[in-house]
Amino acid sequence: MSKLKLAVMISGRGSNLQALIDACAPPGFPAEIILVLSNRPGAKGLDRATEAGIPTKVIDHKNFTDRAAFDAEMTAAMEGAGTDLVCLAGFMRLLSDEFVDHWRDRMINIHPSLLPAFKGLDVQERVLERGARFAGCTVHYVRKEMDTGPIIVQAVVPVLADDTPDDLAARILVREHEIYPLAVRLIAEGRVSIDEKDRAVIAGAVSSEKSVVNPVG
Ligand code: GRF
Repeated sequence: MSKLKLAVMISGRGSNLQALIDACAPPGFPAEIILVLSNRPGAKGLDRATEAGIPTKVIDHKNFTDRAAFDAEMTAAMEGAGTDLVCLAGFMRLLSDEFVDHWRDRMINIHPSLLPAFKGLDVQERVLERGARFAGCTVHYVRKEMDTGPIIVQAVVPVLADDTPDDLAARILVREHEIYPLAVRLIAEGRVSIDEKDRAVIAGAVSSEKSVVNPVG
């Protein structure tokens, strides 16, 4: 069985990258990471990849005057490596429409909120400001508008009294590390399709108390 080839795009810490590295380690997992790409030379995630024996490439956005050229270079690197699926994992640059179009239905992202609520940055500050009772994370296909696109898996955590944004982010991160590998596995098993309303539908999905993968269909 040939494995789904993943390219993971990072800008920093890389804890979700690590979760994917760990998930891909058992021989039976249906995906493998073939390339880790960073726009920041010092990203800690690069060390994690090297440690795991995964090829890395730094494409420093500061060396590019226009976004299109930067994005084209990233696409060339990932296509050259034979990428089937791009996993954004804390990649902190906006992507051009051309890039998103090129990788349509072949690029996923993880975001630390229950989308479509709380898109963008400083999510947990805003969750606490608004007094939301539940928070969580979402793995979704990428569309042109930031933090939109078909939802593949979500997990929920409670917001507790006296939570700081960091407390909440840490509680959510634990769940991120569960649902990102789960979403990759579902895609690699060929179980995810997109319906006419641009929703992701998972064949044979069973939701658990830990994560919800198929509210429609
Ligand atoms: C995560 O919270 C992820 O949801 C968001 O950026 C953060 C990346 O963290 N998109 P890490 O680099 O994977 O540790």
